[in-house]
Amino acid sequence: MRAWVAVDGARPGVRIPKELHGHFSEHLGRCIYQGLFVGEDSPIPNEHGMRKDVVKALKEIGVPLLRWPGGCFADEYHWRDGIGPREARKRMVNTHWGGVVEDNTFGTHEFLELCRQIGCEPYINANLGSGTVQEMSEWVEYLNSDGDSTVAMERWKNGHREPYGVRYWGVGNENWGCGGNMTPEMYADLYRRYQTYCRDYGAHKLFRIACGPSDADWHWTEVLMQKAGRYMDGLTLHSYTVPSGSWAEKGSATEFDEARYMQTLARAYRMDALIRGHLAIMDRYDPEHRVKLMVDEWGCWHDVEPGTNPGFLYQQNTMRDAMVAALTLDVFHRYADRLGPCCIAQMVNVLQSVVLTEGDRMLVTPTGLVFMLYKAHQEAQSLEQAVFCDCMDNGLRQLSVSASRREDTVTLTLTNLHPAQALETEVRLDGVTVRETAARMIRGDMHAMNTFEDPEHVRIEPLDGIRCDGQTLSLTLPACSVCEVTVRV
Ligand code: AHR
Repeated sequence: MRAWVAVDGARPGVRIPKELHGHFSEHLGRCIYQGLFVGEDSPIPNEHGMRKDVVKALKEIGVPLLRWPGGCFADEYHWRDGIGPREARKRMVNTHWGGVVEDNTFGTHEFLELCRQIGCEPYINANLGSGTVQEMSEWVEYLNSDGDSTVAMERWKNGHREPYGVRYWGVGNENWGCGGNMTPEMYADLYRRYQTYCRDYGAHKLFRIACGPSDADWHWTEVLMQKAGRYMDGLTLHSYTVPSGSWAEKGSATEFDEARYMQTLARAYRMDALIRGHLAIMDRYDPEHRVKLMVDEWGCWHDVEPGTNPGFLYQQNTMRDAMVAALTLDVFHRYADRLGPCCIAQMVNVLQSVVLTEGDRMLVTPTGLVFMLYKAHQEAQSLEQAVFCDCMDNGLRQLSVSASRREDTVTLTLTNLHPAQALETEVRLDGVTVRETAARMIRGDMHAMNTFEDPEHVRIEPLDGIRCDGQTLSLTLPACSVCEVTVRV
């Protein structure tokens, strides 16, 4: 099979905001506890309780933004339960996720310490479903006020004199479902009220985020934009890829045939139509494109690994998931000027994770490796591209591409989606002189994955054999591979 790509290297377009590569961490299963946080007394090496191995991996992956504390958990989380002396913190039942006792050891200060260690922007999703207006209002004050109000001084007392300056502020989560089962009219009215009391303190201006639709719920977007559009900076979209199409039996993360593989990719690609559809509605109420659409929950949702707690959503991660990640990030890059922060669900040990842990062991999944290969696109300027190749049986083009430029470096990420056929690919780079090229990739059978016994079975390896003839690069993309080509121009 052959593919031809043309990229205009001389006309850098819109910036690809790094936040499009964001992540999500919820108090769910082993994401926070065990996955990210083990506590200061753990034999697992840690800094202020955060796992050193995981933080190091996340830095390599390039995490620009992290959403917390949920998810469904957000709308039953009361932030005051998670501050102050740990031994006095309230113990609550995590009713959404496994019915386990949440002892609130990991709270506001711990989350912001985690973000500091990773070097990422915090995105806090506050509780509208079961919390009060005052509670939400005071959380913002606690975080961002640099005055000496009683609430701000509570923060000083808890060890943080400087305001945190949190910017991204979610006002409820999935309020059409776990966040209160509301109608869009009801949520829009409540959103307007709650966000009023989420104040800007000094230079710390909030980016206010309203709960948006699930999948193709156009009506929710319509009502929200009409009633509350002018009070928000971002509207969220949640869309998961359920390979079978049935929530009752989603299918195994590791055992699937080629037909299911193809179906998974086709379902993931619906993201393109969803983004276009919701943006078209938003356009009518916000012709200046002030409000960003934020896909702050996306990824593959498989059946849990056999023998694990069904409420913990622990799943393995194969090259199929890596393909979904590459395909989705390529879609996001195409709408870079209209999207706000987007978050894969979730970061560690839950759903389509970038890192898995077991005791003191950890591994980076094929999905995590895709983020590493895509890191150079963050904050680079996207480049126009034309892709010419055959479609596969599921109607998708075999090759998915992102291209960007930062100063004298052009980065191409080329994903050969076919599970069995290599792809001879020619890339013409117009308007630039090619000086030097380097290429690396991940590849494998569609079932290939990393396990604790073989944690680097899928790894980033060099892609050799790239030929350069003037402005044209030729290379062979192995079946089921994601390749990053770096070109000095
Ligand atoms: O990511 C798991 C759950 O999926 C989140 O808690 C919720 O927002 C969504 O339904």
